[in-house]
Amino acid sequence: MPADSSLPRSANRRQLFRSGIAVAAAGTWTHCMAATDIETFSFVIVSDTHLGRNDALAPEKQWQQGIAEINAGPGDFVLHLGDIVDKARASQYPRYVATRDELKKPIHEIPGNHDNTKLFKRYVTDRIDRSFDHSGVRFVLFGNAHEDSHDGFVTSEQIDWMTIECAQAAALGLRIVFCCHVPAHSNRHPDRGWYVKPDEGQTAFYDLIGKHAGRVLLCLHGHFHNGIRGWRDHHQVVEVLCPSLCYNQNRNLEKHLKAGSAAGFFVPELRTGYTIATLGKGKLALQYKPLGSQVDAEYSVEWE
Ligand SMILES: [Fe+2]
Repeated sequence: MPADSSLPRSANRRQLFRSGIAVAAAGTWTHCMAATDIETFSFVIVSDTHLGRNDALAPEKQWQQGIAEINAGPGDFVLHLGDIVDKARASQYPRYVATRDELKKPIHEIPGNHDNTKLFKRYVTDRIDRSFDHSGVRFVLFGNAHEDSHDGFVTSEQIDWMTIECAQAAALGLRIVFCCHVPAHSNRHPDRGWYVKPDEGQTAFYDLIGKHAGRVLLCLHGHFHNGIRGWRDHHQVVEVLCPSLCYNQNRNLEKHLKAGSAAGFFVPELRTGYTIATLGKGKLALQYKPLGSQVDAEYSVEWE
C-alpha cells in the first residue's frame, strides 16, 4: 500500500496506524497467488517472556496478564517465539508451565537464546522442530538459537527437514509460515546485527524460500525486543520481529526509517505487549496489543 498523500495533515500517528499505514509502507505483493485463497483466520504471537528476569516477579505477572487478555481476545492459537525464561533459569520452567495451564488456546513454543534446550524439552515440548497445519497454512517451527550467541544457526539437517516440509505443503496446496527466534534477514545499525549469517544457514534458508516463492508468506521471529519491525525484500515474504511481553527498547527506528538510514517497516509502539495476526483473503494484519490497552497500531499489507 503506498503512502496515502490524501490523509489530512492533522492525522496523528494513531489514526495513521488504524488505517494500516506503517512507516516505510509495505508495498504490494505482486505474487498474487499468495494467500488469496486462504479463509481469514487469526492467531496470537507472544515472544520473549523472560520469566525470572532480574529475579523479579514482574515478568511472570505480565505473562499472566497476557494470558488473561489472550483468553478474552481473538485468535485460534498462540505462538511463543522463544526466550520463555531469562538466562535459562531452571526454576522458571515449572512456573511457565503452571501459568501456561491457564491459557485457553493451543500454544506452540520454540526456544530462544535464553532457553536451555534440555530444560525446554523436559518442560515445554519434547520436539522443537515441528509443524502443524491450520486453515490452509503449514506453520514450520524450528530452533535456531544458541545459548552462547545472539546470532542464529540453521543446520543442513534442518534444511533437509524443511525441504520435505515445504514439498509436502506444496503437494497439499498449503501456504507456509516459518517461525524461529533469530531472524534470517541481514541487519545492522540501527538494528542489532543479530541474524543467521550466510555460512550458518542463511544462504540455504533463502534458497529454500526462493524455491517456494509465493508459497512462503511469513517468517516470524522474536529476539530483538523492538516492537513490530521487519522487512519484505526476499521473494515477497514478510519477515517480522515481534514485540516482547517482558520489555521493549527504543532504537529510534522510526527516525532512521524516515531519514532513509534504515529499510523495512516499523510500527512505532514499544509498550510491553503481543501481536494479533490476521491472515487470509489477500490480507495480512499484525496488530500490536499492549498489555492493559486496546490495539492502536498495526502493520498491514494487501494483495490481489
Ligand atoms: Fe529475548
